[in-house]
Amino acid sequence: MCGIIGYCGPRQAAPILLDGLKRLEYRGYDSAGISVGINHELTVIKQTGKIHDLRVHVPAEIAGTYGIGHTRWATHGGVTNTNAHPHVDNSGKIAIVHNGIIENYTAIKKKLEEKGVEFFTETDSEVIAHLIAQNYTGDLEKAMKDTLPVLEGTYGIVCMHADEPHKLVGARNGSPLVIGVANDEMFLASDVTAILAHTKQVVYLEDGHVVTITDDEFTIVDMSDRVVNKKIDEITWDLQEIEKGDFKHFMHKEIYEQPESVVRAFRGRIDREAATARLGGLNLNSRELLDIERIKIIAAGTSFHAGLVASYMIEQTARVPCSAELASEVRYRNPIVERNTLYFAVSQSGETADTLYAMRELQRKGARVLGICNVVGSTIPRESDGGVYIHSGPEIAVASTKAFTSQITALYLFCLVMARMRHMSFESGEWYIRNLTDIPDKIAEIFNTADKMQVIAKKYCSFTDFLFLGRGINYPVALEGALKLKEISYIHAEGYSAAEIKHGPIALINEETPSVFLVPDDRLREKVVSNMKEVKARRGPLIAIATEGDMEILDIADDVFFVPKVPELFYPFIMVVPLQLLAYFCAVELKRDVDQPRNLAKSVTVE
Ligand code: G6P
Repeated sequence: MCGIIGYCGPRQAAPILLDGLKRLEYRGYDSAGISVGINHELTVIKQTGKIHDLRVHVPAEIAGTYGIGHTRWATHGGVTNTNAHPHVDNSGKIAIVHNGIIENYTAIKKKLEEKGVEFFTETDSEVIAHLIAQNYTGDLEKAMKDTLPVLEGTYGIVCMHADEPHKLVGARNGSPLVIGVANDEMFLASDVTAILAHTKQVVYLEDGHVVTITDDEFTIVDMSDRVVNKKIDEITWDLQEIEKGDFKHFMHKEIYEQPESVVRAFRGRIDREAATARLGGLNLNSRELLDIERIKIIAAGTSFHAGLVASYMIEQTARVPCSAELASEVRYRNPIVERNTLYFAVSQSGETADTLYAMRELQRKGARVLGICNVVGSTIPRESDGGVYIHSGPEIAVASTKAFTSQITALYLFCLVMARMRHMSFESGEWYIRNLTDIPDKIAEIFNTADKMQVIAKKYCSFTDFLFLGRGINYPVALEGALKLKEISYIHAEGYSAAEIKHGPIALINEETPSVFLVPDDRLREKVVSNMKEVKARRGPLIAIATEGDMEILDIADDVFFVPKVPELFYPFIMVVPLQLLAYFCAVELKRDVDQPRNLAKSVTVE
């Protein structure tokens, strides 16, 4: 969703801000703007559309060595140049950018209007600029601190003043802000990708803290004006990880990164001598792990599907009841938190509002919630009671791919811990580890025949409705396949348990409705084959993802994509990759905006 970047230093700010905004593009947005300061004046330029559209409106001669920039994903007020950030106060001297939502902005606006303040936009954010102006007596940091108590809602804010050059003041409450520390220059951003080209030294700001940056230093204070000393963290990613390299799209690159990203999720966490896993971040001792009687996973989107997959594995292998539920539903159902239940909040970004708020509600009720997240320092890991980072590296494409397989890896490691503590033998533990660590090579094998999926995509991408069908642990993979296709190709697709089609969806089957069947050589194969025949009898086009060597499927399906053989409960890793490729190739064929599909955002920080 929205993104922020700020710069103070010796260089011209505008190109740095524009490049930073370009790096934030992946988060999803509809308009963008920058403000730069020089000679006690601010220049503000805002534009709907892509960063390219903004860039063409920024004059080459624009001068200013400090400034702020923003990408907006509209919530309050339409997508217009005026509603884009930065917003300025009536003097034109103060500019602000804001991520989040100011819930009481209507009341604040009314009071300010009574005082004669003139409003220009339909946004909630504009009140912040005017409030800071009202509180300003020559000290921007103080004005910010006096403003924050009035604001209800969530925010990451950065502001600048024309009369206080080379200074930016930022604050956060529920919306991330990170300080980038470099030689003789400082940055503020909502996401490290915006500043990675300039520095790897960062400080994560906490809720309730206010930061002031100048060219060469940063100061953090709390709301009682106490100075907060925070350590500088080093980002472990490289710039190339947020660049496409030889790939045309980030999604394609990220699909291909999975052999490596799965390794990163289990590296250093397998104890072969004890045939178990070691997950230090769980913050649970053996006694507490043994006391767990139930596991519940909350998540949204692709992360929810990863949670569903893990629930099958955990129940069947650790024999601990486990379910996955949409975080957005959990929050408002007044969830019952039972003793000895362990919760996982699964989220690539660690910022998804639905998941975060559900987690907070569960914690209020006394639940212990662990995070399975990718983005280090994001809100869910910081507020959870422990957890596991999946270390996928930055996932830039809006449609999640490598995070999915890494989330499953992390949860499978946890499953191994639980199973080995209960009934799983040493030998079975070794078998489990062998199969999990074989997965990266099996995924890499799939890429050898990726061109076959491209041919299938070409053949079918003009259809407008698809069914994705699987059973058992591959049922959630069918849901994920349908989601991928919808997200990036805009083709209508539904995921179902293959068994369920006879209870309704079979009414949709005709020559115009292709079905993608996941039919590995597992216990349920015969049942799925029967379901395929039911579709075939109704002349529905059939695409099958089957285990290599399964020649019978060639006679039933119109097109078959073969995958390597793995044990039943490991198939989700192997089944999902062809579906990611199918969605990707369809979207490319249809000339969609693969990495930034319409209306979607990478990290959804509103409910
Ligand atoms: C958005 C993204 C999806 C993602 C979901 C959950 O809707 O577009 O790709 O799966 O959020 O995101 P999270 O960061 O919590 O995994």
